[in-house]
Amino acid sequence: MDAPHLRVAVVGAGNVGRALVQMLHDSERQIALDDAATATLEVVGVAVRDLSVVRPGVPAALLTDDPLGLVTREDVDIVVEVMGGVDLARQVAEATLARGASLVTANKALMAACGTELARRADERGADLMYEASVGGAIPIIRALRTSLAGERISRVIGIVNGTTNYVLTEMTQRGLDYESALAEAQVLGYAEADPRADVEGFDAAAKVQILASLAIGTALAGEEISREGISGLRSVDVDFARRAGYVIKALGVVERVGEHGLSRRTHPALVPLDHPLASVHGAMNAVFVEGDKSGPLMWLGRGAGGEATATAVLGDLLHAARNRIAGRHDQPFTVDDRLFAVDEGEVSSVFYISLDVVDEPGVLAQVAGVFGRHDVSIQSMEQSGFAHEARLSFVSHHARTRDVEATLADLNRLSAVERVGACIRVVDGGSR
Ligand SMILES: NC(=O)c1ccc[n+]([C@@H]2O[C@H](COP(=O)([O-])OP(=O)(O)OC[C@H]3O[C@@H](n4cnc5c(N)ncnc54)[C@H](OP(=O)(O)O)[C@@H]3O)[C@@H](O)[C@H]2O)c1
Repeated sequence: MDAPHLRVAVVGAGNVGRALVQMLHDSERQIALDDAATATLEVVGVAVRDLSVVRPGVPAALLTDDPLGLVTREDVDIVVEVMGGVDLARQVAEATLARGASLVTANKALMAACGTELARRADERGADLMYEASVGGAIPIIRALRTSLAGERISRVIGIVNGTTNYVLTEMTQRGLDYESALAEAQVLGYAEADPRADVEGFDAAAKVQILASLAIGTALAGEEISREGISGLRSVDVDFARRAGYVIKALGVVERVGEHGLSRRTHPALVPLDHPLASVHGAMNAVFVEGDKSGPLMWLGRGAGGEATATAVLGDLLHAARNRIAGRHDQPFTVDDRLFAVDEGEVSSVFYISLDVVDEPGVLAQVAGVFGRHDVSIQSMEQSGFAHEARLSFVSHHARTRDVEATLADLNRLSAVERVGACIRVVDGGSR
């Protein structure tokens, strides 16, 4: 008996789309792919913006510059959206699901903007919505949260989910580069965009935090309640202090339960203890560290970007969606827990590292300590280093409320002896409460 046949439309043939089409057309893989899909897969069209570009591995006869025309074709069973952006991608997604075709996407911006709504539509139409590549590139974290950990109560997810910032911070740590030089090098090597703001200011990580929160804890995928801090203010002195104190600075995306139904979602740099598994994630690598009540700690590590690495995750989704289609079923969307609420981030407590440049004169330390004390921020360690007429004071607090630390910084800024408030960075697992 002939194997069933499914038709696939690919929207986008850039880094990811081209690698995917090449994998689907690799003759050495055909038997394995057909087995995994329980069907033969045929790419019936590939949408791009510029038809004149030569794309090795993508047959010119498949190209079209009409993505909506392609995905509304009657014979298309599964659409793969690897174009990026939100507006047109959303139209592509809606048109696909309206026909009852399944959608595979790598687009975190799309999922963060309207993932809950798309999941609902897919479910109504008996179709799949899959987005493994939207967080952590090749790392299979979405499926792990959606299936293997579906019955576990997850208390915290910490991710190094942006390769650009991890590369910059690794270069600052290992080679002693300052922020500007490390970023310039990342741009030359293609790890950072010419306009790096989406990465270094935490926007990209925030979209991934939204997606992780929806799957790990059950929040709706929408809204702007992500507290976001980037890495552009970090200085070499902070990186040096971290190393001397037994930490390394990493840019993290964090999803954390606070109490029974409170949820903190945030992106920020943090001091990570050197013996924490995330401390050894270097360069452009990504990792996701998950803590479950019964499972304990788990970690996934891998390539968070790159056309081929990301295309493996897209391909896995495509094969799974194909199997489902042949079997006449679809995956359930994630469950939204209506009892969850976004906590006031000012109330969330953490250990903080704070650095100050002060004038080097008697009585300054007492003034500074007085400000900390007034706001109930107690200090677990302090380091002083002097240079000319100035000194740098570096503090690590005990657990303190974010709001109290912010008030402390505001008052410290008003002290005439304080030349500059430098860093204020959270410390991961920084001691008892
Ligand atoms: N690259 C990665 O490492 C990575 C990792 C994880 C997730 N992702 C996600 O994967 C998606 C694709 O990323 P990418 O790096 O492959 O992007 P890319 O290299 O910029 O490719 C985008 C593709 O979409 C096409 N396109 C853009 N606008 C279009 C339009 N209006 N009409 C038709 N086609 C259009 C482009 O056509 P032209 O080629 O003609 O310009 C190009 O082929 C994004 O959502 C991204 O966030 C990427």
